[in-house]
Amino acid sequence: MEELKILILDDEKGYREGIEEYLLTQGFTVFMAEKPSEGFQILKDEPCDVVILDIKLPEMNGIQVLRKIKKSYPETEIIMITAHGDMESVIESLRYGASDFLTKPFRLLKLKTAIERTKRFVALQNRITGLKFQYDHLISQIKDTDGMTIIGKSKAMQDILDLMKKVAGTDNTTILVTGESGTGKEIVARGIHTLSNRKNRTFLDINCSSIPDNLFESEFFGHTRGAFTGAIEHKSGYFEVANHGTIFLDEICDMPKHMQTKLLRVLEGNIFRRVGSNRDIKFDVRVISATNQDIDSRVKNHEFREDLLYRLNTFRIHIPPLRERKDDIKPLLDYFVKVYSRKLKKSIKNVSNRIYDYLFNYEFPGNVRELRNMVERALILCDNSTLRIEHFTHIVKKAQETDEDSLDLSILENKEKEMLTKALERSNNNKTSAAKLLNISRSALNRKIEKYKL
Ligand SMILES: Nc1ncnc2c1ncn2[C@@H]1O[C@H](COP(=O)(O)OP(=O)(O)OP(=O)(O)O)[C@@H](O)[C@H]1O
Ligand SMILES: [Mg+2]
Repeated sequence: MEELKILILDDEKGYREGIEEYLLTQGFTVFMAEKPSEGFQILKDEPCDVVILDIKLPEMNGIQVLRKIKKSYPETEIIMITAHGDMESVIESLRYGASDFLTKPFRLLKLKTAIERTKRFVALQNRITGLKFQYDHLISQIKDTDGMTIIGKSKAMQDILDLMKKVAGTDNTTILVTGESGTGKEIVARGIHTLSNRKNRTFLDINCSSIPDNLFESEFFGHTRGAFTGAIEHKSGYFEVANHGTIFLDEICDMPKHMQTKLLRVLEGNIFRRVGSNRDIKFDVRVISATNQDIDSRVKNHEFREDLLYRLNTFRIHIPPLRERKDDIKPLLDYFVKVYSRKLKKSIKNVSNRIYDYLFNYEFPGNVRELRNMVERALILCDNSTLRIEHFTHIVKKAQETDEDSLDLSILENKEKEMLTKALERSNNNKTSAAKLLNISRSALNRKIEKYKL
């Protein structure tokens, strides 16, 4: 810290040199300028930590110099030297960012104290910058482990990411996310919220399949005290809690019909009433809904209101199953290995290529969630630095089953071929009698002859 570079900008030679001499003995690096233009030249070549700046200067006044320095070098701290009793200049210079001031004449010790204060101030600022960086880093890590990062190399996922960005930019367009279980509907919904202007507001995640039928209305819109038996306290509903934010209506197909009607009305007017109240409350919420069911056929079967679907569906994002976007398997595997290595404190250096091959051919009925769980289990089983196929017990078992199946099949086929040959020999290649011997039809025999090229 003692290597602090200080510029003295003062037109009074006596002061300038007096200060310089003192600061040199204190171990600072000192530069001197008589006029602002000289001072700017020095700052250009040698950015200083502190400028000691006289208010009365030739060319322009100290406040103007202060503003000019702060504009080009916001990190440079400035200590103003003002005339005795000139409070107006003091206030003005502090307003323009001076960190301290001294009135002429002053004792040199006072100057040292002012520099020390400035030094502490700079150190504190550095600490804050450091802490902020750490904080941001931590937050991004938390988001990471929280499953906020969306991985997707495939064309399908790239298109979805593009669409998410576009739709996040609109203010309150409703969005319907569809796709099989575990494809990432929730992570996409959260992603849209995070990309939108509502990101610092609430993201309220509601699972429609877990609300009892008779509570839907009061859960969504709240109720006043005494609105019904059991309503002891006033209660805010989801639309109030999520105001200015996003509501995520998960498993929307499980919403009972009477509630679908109410929801539609509310979404059309952007107003609702608490149960037991006759006051309209305005709200501003973006609704994202999701389902893993075939909502269009639900509409055809009159189980889901067509007009509500129309209202929820301004934008539809369909996430294909993982088996239809195999390009995502490897990046997802690598990502989950990274995430779970950190969580489980393992250091995995290699991932066997056989794992990639197996996974590439696997169907993933549980989609990304299944892959994630698989990796977690594999990492728990793995106790060295190489992740091997054996750690993926689930898949290996399936693969062995199919191996055994094909083994059984080839034994059977060999047996069949042998019997066909024998029957043909015995009947002197007469197909009708060979078919009789084998107790199969002539056409079946022909097919088999064809198959085994006999
Ligand atoms: N593209 C992706 N990148 C990273 N993680 C993902 C991705 N897709 C899904 N996941 C992870 O897989 C898991 C399942 O995702 P999510 O809960 O979003 O699926 P879902 O479609 O809502 O499933 P369900 O219909 O069963 O509710 C989560 O842990 C999620 O973080
Ligand atoms: Mg979900």
